[in-house]
Amino acid sequence: SDMPLTDPFARPITYLRVSVTDRCDFRCVYCMSEHMQFLPKKELLTLEELDRLCSAFVGLGVRKLRLTGGEPLVRRNVMALFRALSRHLESGALEELTLTTNGSQLARFAPDLAACGVRRVNVSLDTLDAGKFARVTRWGRLDQVMEGIAAAKAAGLRVKINTVALKGFNESELFSLLDWCAGEGHDLTFIEVMPMGDMDEAERLGQYWALSDLRARLAERFTLSELPLRTGGPARYVRIAETGQTVGFITPLTHNFCESCNRVRVTATGELYMCLGQEDRADLRAPLRGSERDDDVIAAIRTAIAHKPKGHDFDYSRAHVRGQMSRSMSHTGG
Ligand code: GTP
Ligand code: 5AD
Ligand code: SF4
Repeated sequence: SDMPLTDPFARPITYLRVSVTDRCDFRCVYCMSEHMQFLPKKELLTLEELDRLCSAFVGLGVRKLRLTGGEPLVRRNVMALFRALSRHLESGALEELTLTTNGSQLARFAPDLAACGVRRVNVSLDTLDAGKFARVTRWGRLDQVMEGIAAAKAAGLRVKINTVALKGFNESELFSLLDWCAGEGHDLTFIEVMPMGDMDEAERLGQYWALSDLRARLAERFTLSELPLRTGGPARYVRIAETGQTVGFITPLTHNFCESCNRVRVTATGELYMCLGQEDRADLRAPLRGSERDDDVIAAIRTAIAHKPKGHDFDYSRAHVRGQMSRSMSHTGG
């Protein structure tokens, strides 16, 4: 742990996203197919192994750790992992320990998360309409998620709502989502839908709503100013003068942000993916299990990051999907 992790394009790697389970209690239509096969549980890293792996990355200079999935809060006893990892916050080695969640279990876990040093949570929410919510998640209950979000707020956690912009689905809710977030004091970030998982080209193109268009609609009604704010992720933020709220944009399609990439991701089975939009990966489970010492894991991490690709090849122009990844977002945790 002498030299910080740096990739071939001189980008320092300081952000690790870890998918602690590929399972999810929802099945969002743009993310997972109906017959998505989950991994056999015996393939997964144990919580102890996840702790060891995350800690090795912290030793290598990772400052921000985000647990994802799937839905991280459906992993059995996941709070034991948060608790273990919180020691790196206490030591000052880690700046932020956080998670991205669908909110369904937050009512139960919000106080424990806060007690582990989590300060903010990103909650995925694509609509405020209960019927539409049930359709997009295939069976999720909006009231359960709303309770979860309220519990997070009550526990003192900052909430950022993540909304995937979907044409013909939540276009009509742009201003109601903004209003609701302003009223509740939540931040809001929109995401362009990426070509991941097995989905028909026409269907993917049909649901794509470019954030350049969403932003133009906002600018018709409000005064937007660019913020220098960065949260260590890919979002770029603006302030709305009229409401004082912060809105983020994650724009892999209309404005590539790979140049400033600072992250890698680990799957629930211990595969290190160098880029969300590429297949490059390295197995960390074998070196982890091969020895009680971390030397081999660290060597594998360094070698892999020395070959991190420049960026994704996602593109929808000329009415075709390019750069499609067959794995779904839930595999690598977004
Ligand atoms: P903050 O800490 O709030 O900045 O979070 P974040 O944006 O890093 O994490 P979050 O889980 O909220 O990410 C939202 C979505 O952004 C993810 O689910 C992905 O869809 C997308 N995203 C995150 N990182 C990347 C990335 O490196 N490349 C691409 N193309 N998309 C990403
Ligand atoms: N494109 C963009 N975002 C996606 N998510 C899942 N699949 C996709 C996709 N294909 C989002 C979820 C959640 C986050 C983890 O990733 O809605 O907000
Ligand atoms: Fe980094 Fe790859 Fe995401 Fe681009 S697509 S920001 S290079 S992980």
